Amino acid sequence: MDLQELKPERDQDVPIYLQLYRRYRDAIAAGRLKPGDRVPSVRSLASELNLARGTVELAYQMLASEGYVVARGAAGTVVSPRLASLSGPGAARPAENLPVASSRPDTLPGQIHPFQLGLPALDVFPRKTWARLAGHNVRRLDAAAMTYPHPAGHEPLRRAIAGYLGISRGIACSHEQVFVTGGYRGALDLICRTVLQAGDLGWYEDPGYILARRYLEFAGMRLAPVPVDGEGVDVARGIELAGDARFAVVTPTHQSPMGMALSLPRRLAMLDWANRRRAWIIEDDYDSEFRYHGRPLPALKSLDAEGRVLYTGTFSKVLFPGLRLAYLVVPVSQVGAFEAALQHIPGPGAVLPQATVADFIEQGHFSRHLRKMRSVYATRRGYLVDALARMLGDRLHVQPQAGGIHVLAHLPPRQDDTVLAAAAAAAGLAVNALSDWRLCGSDAGGLLMGFANFATPAEAGEAVARLRAIIAPNVQ
Ligand SMILES: Cc1ncc(COP(=O)(O)O)c(C=O)c1O
Repeated sequence: MDLQELKPERDQDVPIYLQLYRRYRDAIAAGRLKPGDRVPSVRSLASELNLARGTVELAYQMLASEGYVVARGAAGTVVSPRLASLSGPGAARPAENLPVASSRPDTLPGQIHPFQLGLPALDVFPRKTWARLAGHNVRRLDAAAMTYPHPAGHEPLRRAIAGYLGISRGIACSHEQVFVTGGYRGALDLICRTVLQAGDLGWYEDPGYILARRYLEFAGMRLAPVPVDGEGVDVARGIELAGDARFAVVTPTHQSPMGMALSLPRRLAMLDWANRRRAWIIEDDYDSEFRYHGRPLPALKSLDAEGRVLYTGTFSKVLFPGLRLAYLVVPVSQVGAFEAALQHIPGPGAVLPQATVADFIEQGHFSRHLRKMRSVYATRRGYLVDALARMLGDRLHVQPQAGGIHVLAHLPPRQDDTVLAAAAAAAGLAVNALSDWRLCGSDAGGLLMGFANFATPAEAGEAVARLRAIIAPNVQ
């Protein structure tokens, strides 16, 4: 292949590294570069095309993180041989088949990156109190606590959760209705095994939480994308598109990722639909605790007179995700079915962390912690929003949100958010592309950014400056 074909044009709006990355991607998709072909070294391409080495390096990092090229040590960098299985007549373009870095907004085990979603402020977690309670639980470990744990969860924790939900979320339930699970996906897994079957059709908010969507697809569920607007998920449209669905997965308090609350008329319409069709509503109340203006509406579950709502909440945002503890509240009529399913599948695991969470709630630390975190997050959100306005105000429009621990910033039309997020990922910034959270295409791109771990305005400013170098490389 003639290297001059890759030469970017200086007078375009698109940054040089992006042009280079796209030319490589197109050459691979068109077969001009084949799996196994060696690509020139950073140094030789930079000199051949008269570019800065850093520019070529950034393009190569993006190609590598998206799986187009792989480094082979002394043998240099080659077009990924894995692409061979994707080529040939009728094959989809590689970009549609490969995991793209920006479409991997996974949980990044063991890592903390600027803007990472899903992490609470880890620096203000009350470690001393936690360590004291955990130590106490280890010391009082008796023989009974060393036997097999109850698969529905440690009873004191189930009681503490039922008490908390009654006061904070308007949900009247007994501890027997509460099932402690291994994270939110543990709750979904239990639901899929108990009241759903592979092949069942369900509404999924579009855009919606990407990891739950992936789990449901993995479990064999068919998902009907239901659009979201200023009042939350469009229930009338859901009925039109998939009125016969068996279930609907929704985030009524704080739509994930757009942030609005589901309006009361829509809540009632959705319950009416579920009651008539005997469908299940899976309510994901993931960060209802963090609200900065006004009071949140009570949970949808609080209006569920006929027992169609399966309510889930998680300790990942309010304590820390390493705990892997979430909970599911099921209608009284379903308690037996869920208990029966739990005879065959693992419950939430170790008792000690569950006992520690129970004490944390019962002794009042939890409500104190939540009060403190609301104010910490309101401040930290301000750090990020101010930095974005100062440095990227002309490129990004931050959507106002009443709560949560991430910010959504809209991009101008036609700017490809997946490409920006991939470039950011290559530079160690964990922003997510809104498009990756959509089921149906849209040219309204945006970036999702966590702010919980920006402890000072300077930290937020430094991360935004790094992002600006990617979004607007010519602006200082
Ligand atoms: C929309 C949404 N629901 C639920 C969760 C909780 O998931 P887990 O309990 O698996 O950490 C998250 C975490 O990021 C989330 O963003």
